[in-house]
Amino acid sequence: MRILIVGSGAREHAIVKALIRTGTAKENIVCAPGNEGIAREVEIRPGIDATDRLEVVKIALEERVDLAVIGPEAPLVAGVADALREQGIAVFGPNQDAAQLEGSKNFAKEIMASAEVPTGMAHQCTTMGEVEAAIDQFGAPYVVKADGLAAGKGVIVTEDRAAAIAHAENYISGGVLVEEFLSGQEVSLFFLADGKTVIPLSPAQDFKRAFDGDQGPNTGGMGAYSPIPWLPEGFVEEVTERIAQPVINELARRGADFVGLLYCGLIVTERGVKVIEFNARFGDPETQVVLRRLTSNLADLLMRAATGKLDVGPAAEFSARKAVTVVLASEGYPVSAAPVREVTGIDSAESIDDVEVCKASPIGRVLSVVGCGDSFQEARTLAYEGMSRIHLEGGHYRSDIAAKVS
Ligand code: AMP
Ligand code: GLY
Repeated sequence: MRILIVGSGAREHAIVKALIRTGTAKENIVCAPGNEGIAREVEIRPGIDATDRLEVVKIALEERVDLAVIGPEAPLVAGVADALREQGIAVFGPNQDAAQLEGSKNFAKEIMASAEVPTGMAHQCTTMGEVEAAIDQFGAPYVVKADGLAAGKGVIVTEDRAAAIAHAENYISGGVLVEEFLSGQEVSLFFLADGKTVIPLSPAQDFKRAFDGDQGPNTGGMGAYSPIPWLPEGFVEEVTERIAQPVINELARRGADFVGLLYCGLIVTERGVKVIEFNARFGDPETQVVLRRLTSNLADLLMRAATGKLDVGPAAEFSARKAVTVVLASEGYPVSAAPVREVTGIDSAESIDDVEVCKASPIGRVLSVVGCGDSFQEARTLAYEGMSRIHLEGGHYRSDIAAKVS
């Protein structure tokens, strides 16, 4: 089976590594556009725009791939999966209509309401008058979300009413969601979906804030660990039955079969588990730790999802080992962009047993170091030992990833 991975981030690098680790030959993987780290493992097709349907279809046909796996949300929302399917190529990644689950927070709320999925109360606002009324109804801390994709910048959670209003003003032209504040531990749980059946992967926790102690602005994610030892018995089954399956059923009922990865961003509140957000793709950096632990053949699972066959065959299996990943970000991330600077020491980091480096872009989140061990302490020590060998002028990373878990 020949596989095309679309994307250029650390997540795509982690997918490539997991495919190889679980039995796919390197020669059967191509990544477009990929990045310099991915290019050291498999063929890449650099220089393409992953959101351009024609370019992606052209490469898929030239490379004669049997399966295309779409990493980021932008190509999904742009309809790249639809275009590939029109050519008869099996695709892991939802069509444009189903990707609206991530592309529009209002749409996601409507699906959740229809499917009776637990989530925070929210008001959809199109005027600043509605925003102010909603903000004052819920009170502080204020949660304001842009309706559409905003490259990780669309959500603000703040005690500062003026900041909440300013954020809403920024996005009101495209619609804004004001949500009640939910308090609790966050969990990311991924499901493979084939349009009707779902298979859960292993839970992970992401660290969203930029700095230690959960301080600073929200980011795409600064680190993660998997599994989550403190979750109650039956948690994955509960989320499968009450959240993932009803959402997939509701989308199918509307004619928008969801084929790909359903990312459930959850919060464990005192009143039970609730959905904070859905994504239509693997999470970054959670994928680096979740797939690090996968022992099943990833290519088979993705192909079964892409071809409607998740109901036949085994579930996804995971090692009992623990994985921790720490993200290295460039100077100023997530507020400002530093100039591109050289990163050194990656080979030295990867020379340590059970340490992997997944490369991303030259600015922003630059790479993730993944440590894997028999205990969280071992995995964490390995990740930080790897990170200590890497140098990027002005670069920063959190020093407290998975520090409280054992
Ligand atoms: P989202 O992009 O919707 O995942 O939001 C980004 C982050 O903002 C989440 O991971 C949470 O940490 C936080 N967040 C979003 N919605 C809420 C909420 N209703 N209550 C508390 N925190 C939230
Ligand atoms: N780590 C959060 C995300 O992938 O959206």
